[in-house]
Amino acid sequence: MSKIIIKNGTLVTSEKTFESDILISNGLIIKISESISENGAEIIDATGKYIFPGAIDAHVHFALPTPAGNSSDDFFTGSKAAVSGGTTTFIDFVTPQKGESLLDAFDKRLKEAENSIIDFGLHSSITEFTKTTLDEMLLCADEKGTPSFKTYLAYKGKNGVGIDDDDFLKVLDSAAKIGALVTVHAEQGDLINFLRQKYVSEGRTSPEYHPKSRPPEAEADAVNRAITFAKFTECPLYFVHVSTKQSLQLIAKAQQNGQKVFAETCPHYLVLDETVYNQKFEKSAPYVLSPPIRHKHHQKNIWKALTDNVIQVAATDHCPFNLKTQKELGRHDFTKIPNGAGSVEFRLSLLYTYGVLEGKISINQFVDMCSTQPAKIFGLYPKKGDLKSGFDADIVIWNPETTRILSASDQFQNCDSNIYEGISVKGSAETVIANGKVLFSNGKLFDETIRGKYIFRERMRF
Ligand code: URP
Ligand code: ZN
Ligand code: ZN
Repeated sequence: MSKIIIKNGTLVTSEKTFESDILISNGLIIKISESISENGAEIIDATGKYIFPGAIDAHVHFALPTPAGNSSDDFFTGSKAAVSGGTTTFIDFVTPQKGESLLDAFDKRLKEAENSIIDFGLHSSITEFTKTTLDEMLLCADEKGTPSFKTYLAYKGKNGVGIDDDDFLKVLDSAAKIGALVTVHAEQGDLINFLRQKYVSEGRTSPEYHPKSRPPEAEADAVNRAITFAKFTECPLYFVHVSTKQSLQLIAKAQQNGQKVFAETCPHYLVLDETVYNQKFEKSAPYVLSPPIRHKHHQKNIWKALTDNVIQVAATDHCPFNLKTQKELGRHDFTKIPNGAGSVEFRLSLLYTYGVLEGKISINQFVDMCSTQPAKIFGLYPKKGDLKSGFDADIVIWNPETTRILSASDQFQNCDSNIYEGISVKGSAETVIANGKVLFSNGKLFDETIRGKYIFRERMRF
């Protein structure tokens, strides 16, 4: 395999920023030092550029099945969008049907994922707890490489993925026994279902009732309960897409009390606010995602939680749906709008622009939350998530000088809308290397025939 030397760049890791060259060979980082020279190596000049470890998105939903059809990015289009924004690894989900074994569902999902152009992992979702679930969870962790299990405390109902408290407790207890991590979509599903039905029965059917039916209290209640249950089952927890001040206070307290509790947030909670719902259907339906976009006052608490390490991970919850054919299904009833939006392409630009450049997070914290922490928490470290010799050569050459106005019209994401439409960002992934190969450079994908591999993840001991 060909050798590459990246010369004269400024390397940024979670710990330090320094000038160095990088030698890549056989898909790995071979050497990091000043003035590397090597016969026959391709030279990439990175003068004036930052070099980051490839970003890891620990929360995406490519081809997520819903009553409105699959989310509009499949593993091919979604992974292309990811690479174009500097993400070189993602973790998606296995979501079994009721009655289906976790292992069969895993095998099916792995097949669907095989056209990803970058490496990926999978979390296994537990949508019911049966007599065989504990054994299946053990096999998922030991034989399938999914030592992280997803639980939804919302989306309850006959065909929903949400689970009740008694099943949730059993999942936590089982995960604790086998040394696995439980990730939680924390929203109180019964309260939300009650409010959704109430609004619809009163004729309040427009998207502005989506956030009203999913108030901050519904998130805080679920966070509180999950922390309490995890305390008594001694299970490590990871809260996905945390969006409110109240949740963060509960999470910080649990961490101070010595509980193993991790948290994630997403760019949309940092750069958008709930006024997005005060628009006509075409403009507001793209923002129907859960938890909803919140009042602006939550944003400063989320940024502070990122700085203070109360939140460790910035992921995207990428889950786009086309406006014209999918979101449209809920024009007369917001509860029928498929929940989710796309961000996988824009995470780094948004966090760099509105976090690093605005002085809210340091550039090393930016690398930590986008790459190193997700690698460490989800068992991808010490292969991914850092710039060190022996690590996979997943590398982003970041041009800090570019500017771009985000728009659906020129995105890689397969979607007819963009929740960041019109928002301006500075800095972009100029060249993206995955497993030692240049996949993306100067706005173009190099080789769409490349395929990533499934990463079998080992259990982490927290
Ligand atoms: O609205 C969202 N977030 N859709 C994707 C599924 C989930 O809740 O993460
Ligand atoms: Zn969720
Ligand atoms: Zn999600």
